[in-house]
Amino acid sequence: MKWPTLILLLSCGIVAAQGDGNTERRKGGSKQPIQTSKCNDVPAHPFDLILGRPTAKSVTVNVLCYEDVEGLLAYGTEAGKLDIRTVKRQFKKGEPAEIVLTPLKPNTEYHYQFLSARGHSDEFAFHTARPPGSPFTFTITADSHLDEHTEPSIYQRTMAGALASKPDFHIDLGDTFMSEKHPDRESAAKQYLAQRFYFGQTCQSAPLFLVLGNHDGESPRGRGDATDSLAVWSNMMRKRYFPNPVPDAFFTGNSNKHPEAGLLQDYYAWQWGDAQFIVLDPFWFSQQQRGHKDNWSRTLGNNQYQWLKATLEASKAKFKFIFIHHLVGGADNQCRGGAEVAPWYEWGGKNPDGTDGFAEHRPGWPAPIHQLLVRNKVSAVFHGHDHLYAKQDLDGIVYQEVPQPGAPGNGNVSRSVAEYGYKDGVILGSSGHLRLAVSSTQTKVEYIRSDQTVSHEYVIPSAGGK
Ligand SMILES: [Fe+2]
Ligand SMILES: [Fe+2]
Repeated sequence: MKWPTLILLLSCGIVAAQGDGNTERRKGGSKQPIQTSKCNDVPAHPFDLILGRPTAKSVTVNVLCYEDVEGLLAYGTEAGKLDIRTVKRQFKKGEPAEIVLTPLKPNTEYHYQFLSARGHSDEFAFHTARPPGSPFTFTITADSHLDEHTEPSIYQRTMAGALASKPDFHIDLGDTFMSEKHPDRESAAKQYLAQRFYFGQTCQSAPLFLVLGNHDGESPRGRGDATDSLAVWSNMMRKRYFPNPVPDAFFTGNSNKHPEAGLLQDYYAWQWGDAQFIVLDPFWFSQQQRGHKDNWSRTLGNNQYQWLKATLEASKAKFKFIFIHHLVGGADNQCRGGAEVAPWYEWGGKNPDGTDGFAEHRPGWPAPIHQLLVRNKVSAVFHGHDHLYAKQDLDGIVYQEVPQPGAPGNGNVSRSVAEYGYKDGVILGSSGHLRLAVSSTQTKVEYIRSDQTVSHEYVIPSAGGK
């Protein structure tokens, strides 16, 4: 190996990680990705802004400055005329600050700008919550990973494409922080900051909603020692840098405080325009995975299940969308699969041999999740985890596997399609984002590649049209 090559590999942490025995083989013989990749070394920048928790009358701006600086936010409903100002305050280097802009008018576009002694941001815009009958767009990505299988320039092009889609908000389906894959917490902490840089290119204008992924440290694997839990650490880090919804007058969700982490900000729901949005967490309440063999150990837990049921039954929205990293069950110990595996375990109620296992494993629960979704006319389930684009249909529900935003691969479909059990539907490779345009009669879904070409599109009719 020539020296320049070795130096490059060392700078990416690749040689060191291989030396740590971090190269276990997975099914199919490929090596596990290395997490300490060049993607985490983002360009220096003075600050970044992430929007979250948009409601009819407020939005949260999370401001992170990389030097001590005095600053404020200016905002208003007219571009170039930002006549409302927050109180000037000190922003400490590396200390994210949450500023809630309120009261705002509902169904209104606002413009804002961060003004500081060391320079100003561009002027950005966001939209407060829409009432029924008001069309809007939102975007989705999944599994950005930031490992050495991710190409930062492709990820950035995808996020720029998502911004160009002019979404009211952006939903990320997890495997975003990958804290359980990092060699230590110092290394893991870097990825939260790197994601501020990448999301900061879209989510300064489109509030971000995070969905938990299995590698984000908040799964049973990360729970570990109660006194030093990776799951608690990962939860605190996520909430420090990214404001996810907490139950209030606009959002519902997990209102139970974890003894160490407080409100988990893990599952939640809201209505926007004619659509009900429901984000689920299959990790915090799953039991230890008993040798990774029994997929009945994967669960939403009774509280989340009852909340999901109540949320679905109370919603009169024309579209009901579910967001989850992977189904609760899956094909194997990695929880792979889409519509083909929906009949199994807690999601569909069957054992893999086709016999009914729901009454035995979930006594007292009225129905498996999929049946609950069918009964309540859910429009679509958006899931990630399998790193490809797959549009499938089952019992009137779209099952949409969302592709990666930053994986090279020239759009080719990998062998994981067969390995992960995908047989039916439209199946394409990564990378890109999904753009969804919701009106009162239909939702148009487009798969937009990182080069901005549209690879596939389809329409979901409103519940009344089914
Ligand atoms: Fe993933
Ligand atoms: Fe995953």
